[in-house]
Amino acid sequence: MKRLLTALLLVAMQVNLHAQDLKLTRENIPEIIAALTPEEKVDLVVGCGAGWGNPDAKFPGTAGWTRAVPRLGIPSIYFADGPQGVNMAQAREYDTADYSCTFFLSGSTLATSWDVEAAHAIGQAIGYELKERGLDVILGPGMNLHRSILCGRNQEYFSEDPLLSGKMAAAWIRGAQSNGIATSLKHFAVNNQETNRKENDSRVSQRALRELYLKGFEIAVKEGNPWTVMGSYNYVNGIHACENEWLLNDVLRDGWGWQGVVMSDWDGVVRQANAVSAGCDLIEPGTEADREALLAAMEGGALSMDALDRNVRNILELVVKCPSFSGYDYSNDIDRKEHQELLRRVAAESMVLLKNEGNVLPLKPGSVGLYGVSSYDLIPANMGVNGVNNGVYHVSLVQGLREAGFTVCPSVLREYTDYIAAEKEKIASAYPSVYKQFFRYPRPEEIIPGASEPMSSSVALGAMTVDLGLKQTAVSNRQSLKEQAEANEAAILTLSRGTGEAFDRSASEFELTPSEKTLIDSLSRAYHSFGKPVIVLLNVPAPIETVSWRDKVDAILLVGQPGERAGESIADALTGTVAPSGRLADSWPVHYGDAPADKNFPSEVGQDLKSLITPRATREGRELVRNIDYTDYEEGIYVGYRYFTTSKTDIAYPFGYGLSYTFFNYEKASVEASASGFVARVSVRNTGFRPGREVLQLYVSAPAGGLDKPVRELKGFAKTRLLAPGESETLEIPVSLQDLASWNEKKACWETARGIYHFCFGLSADMMQTDCSVRVKNAYLYGKQD
Ligand code: BGC
Repeated sequence: MKRLLTALLLVAMQVNLHAQDLKLTRENIPEIIAALTPEEKVDLVVGCGAGWGNPDAKFPGTAGWTRAVPRLGIPSIYFADGPQGVNMAQAREYDTADYSCTFFLSGSTLATSWDVEAAHAIGQAIGYELKERGLDVILGPGMNLHRSILCGRNQEYFSEDPLLSGKMAAAWIRGAQSNGIATSLKHFAVNNQETNRKENDSRVSQRALRELYLKGFEIAVKEGNPWTVMGSYNYVNGIHACENEWLLNDVLRDGWGWQGVVMSDWDGVVRQANAVSAGCDLIEPGTEADREALLAAMEGGALSMDALDRNVRNILELVVKCPSFSGYDYSNDIDRKEHQELLRRVAAESMVLLKNEGNVLPLKPGSVGLYGVSSYDLIPANMGVNGVNNGVYHVSLVQGLREAGFTVCPSVLREYTDYIAAEKEKIASAYPSVYKQFFRYPRPEEIIPGASEPMSSSVALGAMTVDLGLKQTAVSNRQSLKEQAEANEAAILTLSRGTGEAFDRSASEFELTPSEKTLIDSLSRAYHSFGKPVIVLLNVPAPIETVSWRDKVDAILLVGQPGERAGESIADALTGTVAPSGRLADSWPVHYGDAPADKNFPSEVGQDLKSLITPRATREGRELVRNIDYTDYEEGIYVGYRYFTTSKTDIAYPFGYGLSYTFFNYEKASVEASASGFVARVSVRNTGFRPGREVLQLYVSAPAGGLDKPVRELKGFAKTRLLAPGESETLEIPVSLQDLASWNEKKACWETARGIYHFCFGLSADMMQTDCSVRVKNAYLYGKQD
């Protein structure tokens, strides 16, 4: 190997002698590639390691950077995690400056806004902060489909529906990249569970792949054009996502016409040469072992220079677009006020009003009893890697309510704050090293205690979830509850669930705990006996059980994970200062287990996880474990509302559901033919007494055309501006013939069947308001080339 490398080096050096002044420009990438030595090329396709835990990192606490080749004017470019904000250390050891960035709302909360302009604005704000902090690539948006309500990263992703996910992601990307920085659309693809995420094989039909799991990415890629895409950890039908030529080349590049850099997820590459050859341009975060493996593969012939050159070209084409290349003079001083105001409004608008019996909301400022641990310790965001550092602080609910003119009942407050302080102390003495980060939602590696603590990482996360999120201790005794109910105008109870990367939620987290149920019973008995309402805030990343208790309370507001202005956003929505106009981005089942995907999801793995996970290499000769080593997507395309509406299974709250503080009428609905297909149009009038925004959801029922079809599918959506009472707005939604197609596995192409299509504007996937039908005269096939 040494001889070959020396020979190659000599050739390269000769080239270099003639090219001593050669420096990278936008125009000379081929020349630069010719001037790079083989080792330098390998350097470029392997990252420099992660920025966290590295005192020499230029940007401490960030995800990584690429290697520079100064002699050819190739700079490093720098990555920070998203998608909830720019994830970097807020403080540095060597100065006293504040490096905080705005901690925005989670993807699943942004999705309930159904507002692509909001997604654009949030992306734009995050991209701006990234650029002004000196970095080049934001690792987001995340957009894997919510196949199961228990996936541990659903909060980072948008929805169970690919159209909603794809449109939100595309807008976010366009917003972020309008700053001249790169996004990384992740995790490509079919990364729908966290359990054994690096080994699990997602086994999925071509049709479900095309219509669901790749569809959102296709929309985001074609309409957003992210400069980079991140390959996922899992296998897809037996081939690792980062080694999957079909995924990376046939589908992503040739099929969708995308040109950009594919980077691996962090430590996601299994066989380096296979990944590089398959079109995974950049191995992240990159180790010396990765470099050596690639050099050995070149020597042994397993990695061709052509493949390496192709990847280097993709990387250089990215580099020349980035701020680090142009030497952008970043300010490192971001005025976050404007972004915080944006966040406050978007988060409030994204909240979903699930119940509002007797119009108890909007609530007039007065005295409220605030119950539940998380009323005093909200979970503003994702608890995993992606977006933690900046989430250490947030506006508390107490502060938000006080600013809005409420009095928070002091005796309830004292009970809970004393309780929380006592719990903290217990945890501090049981797990001293965990404690420091405990109440700020630690990164997994911070709580995976190099074995100094007697617990595994899953126990640590579990403990955190149980003690912080789930335990809604009914601290009040009956007498004091009665007094509180008499003294206050309303009870507000917050129910929370936390979740984060690397772990899925378990089925039991879907249920309410006995203490949560007891608390709801006691509150409703006490407050209702004085004719006072009980309002429940759901500070959850994904659906939880609601049917057994919702009749006992008056109002339910899904607040999701609203980011750092949490308390203010919630107060705005409760008081109607901002009209909550969110709609569910997922179906909320009656029971866990109602969705067919639940049968093939590791919902009960819990603490046994470790013993079940074994590296692929050691699997030989043993039987593979279902849902651990592989997961069969037996439900095919019947995910979320596609299943619930078609099978007519009872549902707690359907996809698209959400109430308003006002009412809307749908008038003059129509569908007309257009050059590419159809345009659906409707006027929406605010017929109530308060201002509000309506989400228009366009569902289409398609003729079977020889395939099995869901009853209806979302084919477009739009959101009105804020309409004053009496005001109306006409909106139109284009739907192309291609948008109406299903994947025909036999013909291996998209097919729009001939026949009658019903275009319906619905209040949710379950409730149609209008119905216009059109005929497609001839079947239409496309996409054979993929
Ligand atoms: C996550 C990615 C993330 C990367 C870098 C991985 O563990 O899956 O979403 O961008 O780490 O932090």
